[in-house]
Amino acid sequence: MCGIVGYIGSKDTMPILLDSLKKLEYRGYDSSGMAFLDHEAHLLVRKAKGKICNLEELFRAQPLPYTRVGISHTRWATHGFPSDINAHPHIDGKNSIAVVHNGIIENYKELRDFLKKKGCKFVSATDSEVIPHLIAHFYKGDLFSAVKQALQKLIGTFALGVISRDHPGMLIAARVGSPLIIGIGEKENFIASDVPAILDFTRRVIYLKDSEIAVLTKDKVDLYTFEGKKVTPHIDTVSFSVTTARKEGYPHFMIKEIHEQSSVLEQMLALRLKNKKLVLEGLKLSDAFLKNVRKVSIVACGTAYHAGLVGKYIIESLGRLSVEIETSSEFRYRNPIIDKHTLVLAVSQSGETADTLAAVREAKAKGAKVIAICNVVGSSLAREADGILYTYAGQEIGVASTKAYTAQLMMFYLLALKLATVRKSITPKASKELMDQLLRVPALYKEVLKDIHKIQKIAEANSHFGCFLFLGRHVNYPSALEGALKLKEISYIPAEGYAAGEMKHGPIALIDEYRAVVCINPQSHVYDKMSSNMQEIRARKGNVIAIATRGDHEIKSNADYVIDIPKVADILSPLLVALPLQLLAYYIAVKRGCDVDQPRNLAKSVTVE
Ligand code: AGP
Repeated sequence: MCGIVGYIGSKDTMPILLDSLKKLEYRGYDSSGMAFLDHEAHLLVRKAKGKICNLEELFRAQPLPYTRVGISHTRWATHGFPSDINAHPHIDGKNSIAVVHNGIIENYKELRDFLKKKGCKFVSATDSEVIPHLIAHFYKGDLFSAVKQALQKLIGTFALGVISRDHPGMLIAARVGSPLIIGIGEKENFIASDVPAILDFTRRVIYLKDSEIAVLTKDKVDLYTFEGKKVTPHIDTVSFSVTTARKEGYPHFMIKEIHEQSSVLEQMLALRLKNKKLVLEGLKLSDAFLKNVRKVSIVACGTAYHAGLVGKYIIESLGRLSVEIETSSEFRYRNPIIDKHTLVLAVSQSGETADTLAAVREAKAKGAKVIAICNVVGSSLAREADGILYTYAGQEIGVASTKAYTAQLMMFYLLALKLATVRKSITPKASKELMDQLLRVPALYKEVLKDIHKIQKIAEANSHFGCFLFLGRHVNYPSALEGALKLKEISYIPAEGYAAGEMKHGPIALIDEYRAVVCINPQSHVYDKMSSNMQEIRARKGNVIAIATRGDHEIKSNADYVIDIPKVADILSPLLVALPLQLLAYYIAVKRGCDVDQPRNLAKSVTVE
């Protein structure tokens, strides 16, 4: 799972690739590299372990000559640990062909054995290195033909960029599974893993389809199928823009994005609840269809999955409609029982998560209608779904999802309201009340943020614990899962989320004075049950941090620390609970000196299985 950019034209290649590659750092940041052909067609390769700034530093220390063609890569390791050697581009034995690869070559072991027998020497531990050797194996003077033959042998997912010393005026790209776009410029052309990477240079793009090869020169782009049949390219003009996010005085993007949530939700409501009328533009499904839907099936990964879990409670409660939810990676291989009466909701911040895209393809193949709840405009998911509900949360840079999550939650409330209205499972009065409550949420976020210093102190006072549990019930059971995920991904502290009622079935064995337990217990119909669970933890010397409704004095006797949230309807509480959970994770990670925005081993968007 990585990012790729390639350039062919007349300008100096390195600054263009560097600028574009930085925009793909969300896809991986454990190492990066570039390959260029200089005016004498020498292949120049530079690689650096770590973030792209390390590669930039290398270019400063060892300046490159002016080059007019090149490929670049930012990596998230799948095969082989992060190192200069395992970084892309990979090259063949004659130092002639360079390849960048996003994806996984599943049959790399057989290919490697085969190529070794032919005398190839491998230097890296990656699956990707077989590709340049394979192309070289087939190369008899025609690069296109060699690439085509190599592609026939590859099993897995891949987006590739290929250059060769023998063909300095040519850049070849191909894909199966992993996304790749071609940017069409004036006497220059590009390849990239996504559109925003090259938007500073061109708005004209071709979305390369699966099993297509593109041959780029500076003057033209030709498309072919893997069998070599010419394809007429369809050029799209991209209308959206991407502003470069800045920290604006905040120490990290994550805390900036946490603060943005109030305005993100406010703007979303202004757009989607105009004069208290639901505007779900992009849904593209008739009321008749929604009325007759038999089942909703939600697919998502990570934080988006947790938003989907909350969504299940909301849709079932308001729309009185049965909802299944599954992580995309399980759904795609389960042969799920869905049909044309199923509404599939695919939730994804990036819209590029490979498992979710595969789940969507599976659902569509079975005849279901797929609606995406997605943040990134123009993403693969947005293009592939039957309808798209954009959350418009703005660019999210922090790897730990915050504002995208709460925007997904808000979209679930709106969508559930729509389903409930169409299916007449909500009275007009109750619907109006819910809308009024939703409209108050952005202001309530500002209220929670007034307590930020108190939350920071609580976080810091508990930052030494080596293990955290997060407990919640009903609609805040998913909040517990999300709280635990936030903490573990940015602080590396083992943290587990549980439905509080499950404690007694095993996890309670973990409780002692060395555990911190975050108990999510706002006023609700499960308040007393949750309070009993808190007492059980205290009886075993666990340290309790409670998230409770402002004015709840009783809770103090069951907790070491209490974080208040304003009173809202039970069903809306996950929206408010999210904020202190994010802040707890953030301040604990900062206190422990962690790289909050780019935690180890992670990537913002997971584009491999
Ligand atoms: C969230 O904090 C994570 N970094 C991760 O779980 C993420 O939510 C998941 O990879 C799904 O990404 P998506 O929303 O872009 O599909």
